[in-house]
Amino acid sequence: MQDIDAKSYSTAKVATRIGVHRDTLLRWLRGGKIPEPRRDRHGWRAFTENEVQRIEQFAKLGPSEVTISGTSHRPAVGMKRLEALDWDFADAKTGYLTHSLHPYPAKFIPQIPNTLIQELSSVGERVADIFCGSGTTLVEALTLKRNAVGIDASPLACLISRAKTAVLAQEERELLVSLASRAEESAQSLVAEGQARLFPPVALSSQAPRPDSHAISFWFEPFIVQELADILSWCKALPTESTRNVALTAFSSIIVAVSKQDSDTRYVRRRKDLHSGDALRRFSRALADAVQAVWEFTELVESRFSCSVYNADVLSAPDIGPVDLVVCSPPYPNAYSYHLYHMTRMLWLGMNQPWFKKVEIGSHRKYSSKSPKRASIETFRKEMSQILGWLRRHLRAGRFACFVAGSSTINGRKYSNTDVISGAAQAQGFREISRIDRSMQDTKKAFNPAIGKIKQEQILILQNGGQTSS
Ligand SMILES: C[S@@+](CC[C@H](N)C(=O)[O-])C[C@H]1O[C@@H](n2cnc3c(N)ncnc32)[C@H](O)[C@@H]1O
Repeated sequence: MQDIDAKSYSTAKVATRIGVHRDTLLRWLRGGKIPEPRRDRHGWRAFTENEVQRIEQFAKLGPSEVTISGTSHRPAVGMKRLEALDWDFADAKTGYLTHSLHPYPAKFIPQIPNTLIQELSSVGERVADIFCGSGTTLVEALTLKRNAVGIDASPLACLISRAKTAVLAQEERELLVSLASRAEESAQSLVAEGQARLFPPVALSSQAPRPDSHAISFWFEPFIVQELADILSWCKALPTESTRNVALTAFSSIIVAVSKQDSDTRYVRRRKDLHSGDALRRFSRALADAVQAVWEFTELVESRFSCSVYNADVLSAPDIGPVDLVVCSPPYPNAYSYHLYHMTRMLWLGMNQPWFKKVEIGSHRKYSSKSPKRASIETFRKEMSQILGWLRRHLRAGRFACFVAGSSTINGRKYSNTDVISGAAQAQGFREISRIDRSMQDTKKAFNPAIGKIKQEQILILQNGGQTSS
């Protein structure tokens, strides 16, 4: 929508200016928290400067009205209102900004952390995701003017999180755009070369290094290996960390598509109709899209807010400093094996996959093994208890930790992970403040199909000490 005159603003522009998601602004309007503006002749909302300033003020003060006692530095929290919200977000767009830079199984939709961050923290505070995965919470925290802290044991998750929260300088953006063009030109020259020779060339002339593993020839066609090796060497040669993170994430995002692996949730080999130049072309497109998304994010986020991403096993009690809010979705026991499904990506990126395999919580492999020592729901309970004990030392007193969790089936028996986490939390001194049910759309959360679709999950809100709200 265009502004109807120099002094009016569309819903999208207001949302961008005050740093909230458009859906949040619409929710405030629907809930009568902020007044409806007039409409232009096409029926679009047209906010005046005065109205925008009032909304800005409302966003800064924290949009809740009931205060929890004992947390004087905290914004007010209305748990009842939180519970009354429609958490299904059935029609919400989920791929805005950098959210669709890289596929990531079992990531949550951004509307969940967005709402929790707005309701349970204030501008300038520190929001952590202790299982940050692809960085959904971190992106939302930064756009909402909070500082962000992420932890994940997967080095790939950390790379993606860093790319999604990267801020680029104009020269860095131009460099990445020229790399995308270079890849596209190389793809075109390969096709031309292939046509002249009648058959596509088997290999490029480049001597770019590639991983030394039999898994590479098992999962990739030789001509794809050559193209990927070239692309990887270009990405690694980029001069800054931000540009390397964005380019390597674009590189990783195409790996499964150009391999023989069926999909991100199916670890079997199948033939794919791949042609010479395909990897280069896909990379070029992925990078061009990534640069555009990261640039949009760069323009939105203020430089005074920072993001730290720790590649660590959360069970090793990493020192992340004090935090004001935790929003996370833990790995569900027996639901997925990130170390396995991301194996080829990690191999190409030279990441320590064997270490991650060892420390990964919940992996299907650990729960489905034939060994009598295989993991059980008790394993998960003990891990959660240890994590919550550590978390209590980092989360400020009276503040909240939100866990988005569903159920798991282990050895044919169904368990509520929310129950397990809540029990472990209470034993560590947290209080359960709220438990909200939500339905998931099939397309919004990918799991291993062999384990079955998870259609319901819960948002568990725990408080560190303090007292319960109304
Ligand atoms: C459900 S995913 C989180 C997805 C995230 N909410 C998102 O939107 O992308 C769970 C994450 O826990 C991570 N994880 C598993 N074991 C871990 C451990 N021991 N320490 C830290 N992170 C771990 C996995 O790598 C995975 O990224």
